[in-house]
Amino acid sequence: MTDTTEIRKGLAGVVVDTTAISKVNPETNSLLYRGYPVQQLAATQPFEAVAYLLWHGELPSPEQLRAFRAEERAHRALDPAVKAAIDLTPVSAHPMDVVRTAVSVLGARDAEASDSSPEADLRKSVRLFAALPAAIAYDQRRRWGRDPIEPREDLDYSRNFLWMTFGEEPHEVVARAFDVSMILYAEHSFNASTFTARVITSTMADLHSAVVGAIGALKGPLHGGANEAVMHVFDEIGEAAAVEAWLDEALATKRKIMGFGHRVYKSGDSRVPTMKAALDTLVEHYGAQELAALYDALEAHFVARKGIHPNLDYPSGPAYRLMGFDTELFTPLFVAARVTGWTAHIMEQAASNALIRPLSEYVGPDERQVPGA
Ligand code: SDX
Repeated sequence: MTDTTEIRKGLAGVVVDTTAISKVNPETNSLLYRGYPVQQLAATQPFEAVAYLLWHGELPSPEQLRAFRAEERAHRALDPAVKAAIDLTPVSAHPMDVVRTAVSVLGARDAEASDSSPEADLRKSVRLFAALPAAIAYDQRRRWGRDPIEPREDLDYSRNFLWMTFGEEPHEVVARAFDVSMILYAEHSFNASTFTARVITSTMADLHSAVVGAIGALKGPLHGGANEAVMHVFDEIGEAAAVEAWLDEALATKRKIMGFGHRVYKSGDSRVPTMKAALDTLVEHYGAQELAALYDALEAHFVARKGIHPNLDYPSGPAYRLMGFDTELFTPLFVAARVTGWTAHIMEQAASNALIRPLSEYVGPDERQVPGA
């Protein structure tokens, strides 16, 4: 290794490009989507309007929102080919593998699959955004041994997603908390899965290929898989009274506590207060005081011991548990939200035409000759 080469493992702290889509600011502990604070968007906008904002750069007018909602509703139905592909996967398969398969099939069948023009990519993004809830809801219901439920055009995105999953119109508290979670999960600059999508796009590969790659990256417990892993931790601990002993053991074995820490935020994830407030409404609605006590105890003890703060996955996991989703379905919900941010970045990267190809420092054997060569 030359003494001048600086290796930045994990690209930590490395600025590799510009983006106009979102700004994550650890100094001010803030997150802007196209300049708007995410807390304000979560408080005032439906998820559909935030998706539109990420793609178009501006919030939709009432007429634009009406037109966008009509387009989304027109593509909600579960494609029979996607249903057949999901049926080919065992229920023992992880739901992230199932949703990755569903996107592959949607890509292979999309009439504009080979058209990577900005206009076609936008239309494909909307079709993916609209189609994922039915695929995820179908996979959740087959794990319960239940038949699929047809989408309803009279319900907005989140209420329809919950309708197709649970077969009943959600309580307002549940619908609101779900919509807030979708907005908060939608976009977060160059996180691992988004950067994966940008790398794939930088080779001029198609949008669906980039989304499939992003789903693979998101599955890992250091990234999107953490919201599922948080609930495995809660199930392992059991109750608030057991937290301290459990944490002693976990920290003694250098275990990573899922739902805590962040590569960019170092004094707390800007999205957590908003998602925690949504979780609090669910705790009250369902009378889940024991879960809340465990949540508070683990946070208090871990922050006191390590000074590492919760990230968005920490309040999201318990929220999705209270809504009734199986634990393994939590990260596919993250996919349904983040597909908006991923596709916005895919379109931004496609417009830049810059192949992403970093260098590496060779540390293998010096050059040598093959015997007999
Ligand atoms: C997401 O990038 C994004 O924007 C991602 C995301 C998005 O919206 O796209 O925000 C979504 O992925 C959130 C993160 C979800 N992951 C988890 O909750 C998994 C647990 N968290 C850790 O693995 C960790 O915090 C990372 C991976 C998230 C970030 O780690 P870093 O920045 O690489 O820091 P590090 O692993 O080098 O940790 C520094 C120190 C280490 O201790 P030492 O080895 O120096 O003694 O802090 C410790 C770590 O062991 N540490 C933890 C910890 N997080 C950091 N120790 C225990 N539990 C943790 N959760």
